[in-house]
Amino acid sequence: MTPPAPTLSNNVHIVTQDPIMLQLLATAERIAKTSITVVVTGQSGTGKELLARYVHHHSERRKSPFIAVNCGALHEDLLASELFGHEKGAFTGANKAKQGLFQSANGGTLLLDEVGEMSEQMQIKLLRVIQEREVQPVGSTKTIPIDVRIIAATHRDLQAQVKAKQFRQDLYYRLNVIELNLPPLNQRLGDAPLLAQYFLKQHTQQMQHTVDLITPKAMSALTRYQYPGNIRELSNIIERGVALSTSNTLTEHTLPDHIHQHSAGKQPSAQLQTLAEREQEYIGFVLEKCNNNKKKAAEILGIDRVSLWRKLKTDNYLTRIK
Ligand SMILES: Nc1ncnc2c1ncn2[C@@H]1O[C@H](COP(=O)(O)OP(=O)(O)OP(=O)(O)O)[C@@H](O)[C@H]1O
Ligand SMILES: [Mg+2]
Repeated sequence: MTPPAPTLSNNVHIVTQDPIMLQLLATAERIAKTSITVVVTGQSGTGKELLARYVHHHSERRKSPFIAVNCGALHEDLLASELFGHEKGAFTGANKAKQGLFQSANGGTLLLDEVGEMSEQMQIKLLRVIQEREVQPVGSTKTIPIDVRIIAATHRDLQAQVKAKQFRQDLYYRLNVIELNLPPLNQRLGDAPLLAQYFLKQHTQQMQHTVDLITPKAMSALTRYQYPGNIRELSNIIERGVALSTSNTLTEHTLPDHIHQHSAGKQPSAQLQTLAEREQEYIGFVLEKCNNNKKKAAEILGIDRVSLWRKLKTDNYLTRIK
């Protein structure tokens, strides 16, 4: 089966063929047409920022800026001045007036990343901005009207935070008109081969070092690992694999040890393989031994080159990147 082309929208690639993800993307596209406030949730590295960009690129705001701000990374006062701007002399060191990110994103989309980390004071300020659709720069008495679509993202369970009184309920309801929840990668491992090949192509281009095949053994380990760091971790694993590869084939030897340990045992038994799996593994083994020379590999396998090519093409796990 040929993998479907990545979903493309103005350089926003979301690679998936997982039914739940496809449903999520369809919802994201539908809400992109409205100005509804969205909360994107999911574990770290599941693609929250990418999905926020996807919404932006499918909206009528796509020609205006998309700005992401990590609310957890900045101290409360600094975050207020970043988001709302400040007047000259508003605080020590404010030598000149500064425009806030809400204003910079005017007409576009502002991603408030890690919104669950905001202090109570900031939550109150943000609620006011959403309600009034205007911002007041720090140290100013004037307010500035804004037209910005807000997308909030968090790896936390905001509802649980509301229950624990760590997040304001009124703000929660304002933000959470629609929640887009990204499943962890271990719940969509069927996407691992597609993602692995997508990142292979990406990192190969960046490193200018051609690695365009992943052996069945390596792919098998990649589709059984549980990925606590989700898609970012898979991307890093492939990047490392490309860097360590000495030929155009990424083998299991270039994968970090813990991947083999964690994925081992997930397969019921090495002996209990289907014929197709066994064949796949053997073809990969022979290709590796022949330095990916297909003519030689076909000879050893006792099949003609066209048959070998067909097997490689129809093999989900070993697809040459065009
Ligand atoms: N489905 C996907 N297809 C292609 N690339 C993806 C996909 N999902 C995530 N990525 C890539 O994986 C990396 C991590 O994604 P992103 O930064 O959006 O995750 P995040 O959930 O915001 O992570 P964090 O919680 O750590 O901030 C990015 O480089 C992103 O482009
Ligand atoms: Mg993020």
